[in-house]
Amino acid sequence: MDSFMKTIEWIDRRVRIIDQTQLPHKLKFIYLRSVRDVVEAIKSMKVRGAPVIGVAAAYGIVLGYPKLKQTAKVLIASRPTANSIAWAVKRMLKVKGGRAELLREAQRIAREDVEINRRIGKNGSKLIKSGMTVLTHCNAGALATVDYGTALGVIRAAKAQGKRFKVMATETRPLLQGARLTAWELKRLRIPFRLITDSMAGHFMQRGEVDLVVVGADRIAQNLDVANKIGTYSLAVLVKENGVPFYVAAPFSVIDKSIRTGNDIPIEQRSKEEVLSFAGKRSAPKGIRAANPAFDVTPHNYITGIITEKEIMHVSKKS
Ligand code: MRU
Repeated sequence: MDSFMKTIEWIDRRVRIIDQTQLPHKLKFIYLRSVRDVVEAIKSMKVRGAPVIGVAAAYGIVLGYPKLKQTAKVLIASRPTANSIAWAVKRMLKVKGGRAELLREAQRIAREDVEINRRIGKNGSKLIKSGMTVLTHCNAGALATVDYGTALGVIRAAKAQGKRFKVMATETRPLLQGARLTAWELKRLRIPFRLITDSMAGHFMQRGEVDLVVVGADRIAQNLDVANKIGTYSLAVLVKENGVPFYVAAPFSVIDKSIRTGNDIPIEQRSKEEVLSFAGKRSAPKGIRAANPAFDVTPHNYITGIITEKEIMHVSKKS
């Protein structure tokens, strides 16, 4: 199976998305009819992952027509770390014409996303050889994009070339994008994998059981520091210590040229309840404090390369 179902699609004057909060138990589609619906779906992570929230924002602009300035503002404020929302909104605001032209542009952005992911997949697949174990973190698959995926796109492309390798997926606390979403995708794709908790990664690297790490990105600074799901930096440090190559798979549009270094990337702080509970059930005592940054920044010197739709950019030889 080489194509999934579209994570997001404009159907009959509405935006259809997969409600990702229901996975892996239920594959449920929901419809967004207004800007408010789009903002709510992004904030509650019914739709999540950098590329697809950019596409959701582009459709949000169509739904908000003709109140474009106001719509742009609420969409950009919905989640702060991924560059994709601001990128897509900016592109939509350049469109000359009315609602029909805006819709055409949003659909073009969605189509391009799939095309770009396939090219990222093809470029990155060269790094995977038969017999390897590839570790990935969070969900950077079809669900995080319109279709195909970035980091998982690399894995899919290698599988489509007939390579035989294994995957290790981290569960990704606190929202379990790895356990719920990446595991769901890999199972459907029939790619052999093992699910591990985030804290097991170092153990497997130390035993020489991880050959390559590929993750996605939410925003990349001018100096190529990368913001991605919380836990990515810890993995990058472990990787360096254990001599494993560390690659980031992302479209060029994730690079934010207005931001000089990773220190300037805004980090989303989410509800403490996500940490105080596990899979929706309270797991910590009442009356305690918690912290919940949703992303972290990996400095560029920990990154071996960035796999883009054009090429693999070699970043650091030292990792
Ligand atoms: O908080 P999320 O689930 O939206 O975070 C997603 C990630 O961090 C992904 O790894 C990243 O967006 C890359 S998606 C291709």
